[in-house]
Amino acid sequence: MSNSSEAELLHTFKGIPFTTRSSPELLKSLDTFDAREDDVLLVSYPKSGTHWLAGVITKLYNTQVTITSPIEFGDISQLEELNKLSSKRIIPTHLDYNMLPSNFKNKKCKMIYISRNPKDTAVSMFHYYRDNPNLPTVDTWTAFFDLFLKGNVVCGSWFDHFLSWEEHEDEKNILFLFYEDMKKNLPKVVKEISLFLNLNVSDNDIQDICKKSSFSEMKNDTEKENSDPSHTVCALTSNRKLVFRKGAVGDWKNYFTPKQNIRFQEIFNEKMKLSKM
Ligand code: A3P
Repeated sequence: MSNSSEAELLHTFKGIPFTTRSSPELLKSLDTFDAREDDVLLVSYPKSGTHWLAGVITKLYNTQVTITSPIEFGDISQLEELNKLSSKRIIPTHLDYNMLPSNFKNKKCKMIYISRNPKDTAVSMFHYYRDNPNLPTVDTWTAFFDLFLKGNVVCGSWFDHFLSWEEHEDEKNILFLFYEDMKKNLPKVVKEISLFLNLNVSDNDIQDICKKSSFSEMKNDTEKENSDPSHTVCALTSNRKLVFRKGAVGDWKNYFTPKQNIRFQEIFNEKMKLSKM
């Protein structure tokens, strides 16, 4: 990774690297954010299936809802924009639990956390680093692998992010989902989301939503649309075309050397020893 581009593109707030698309002033002001009781948060570490989940959730509602830009995206004026919205808000974020504005916690807003095998997340993020001009240059998979394990990547350590949220997994207003479960049985997960959001959705509608949320449908839809730079569900880019890469489980096997796999597993076992995962 070249230092100059890293310095230009990333800054650190409370020990976590953010891109310059999240201004320090905005991050400092997050705790003043006015949450509403009916806000729904869509939470993820980058590359865990955020866009997929956002696509499913918006299709579940037949009332007017707005999927907003991430709460950590933009400059301070963004908070005002979010405040002005009159419709129900679905708010994406890559923030860890500790950085989430306390208003969301006090008001017990519904939150959906999507997670993914960190090995596949790392590979997906490696490609994102290569393709996304908002992220620093990374030359090789080996170099990125080290950065990922050290948590020296945008949004910080996967382990810290996951653990910060997992600690709250049993709270009634938080639903934990896994990318791999969505791949295995999407209708089952969509049903689970609809029950959590108290939405009455028929089995036929669920089938239809699943069809429209397949990787190929979503990728095709994205290729046809013009991207709107002021709107995104991922604070790291407004270009959805960078998102739909492979959409597979187990791609890590094409990248991890046996040695890297052992090292990852050792760190995973150590960091996750108190986790239920
Ligand atoms: P890959 O890079 O492994 O292909 P995020 O939305 O959090 O940035 O996550 C992006 C990852 O989710 C990418 O993974 C992308 O291909 C995958 N993805 C997006 N839509 C999907 C879908 N409908 N089905 C399966 N995977 C999807």
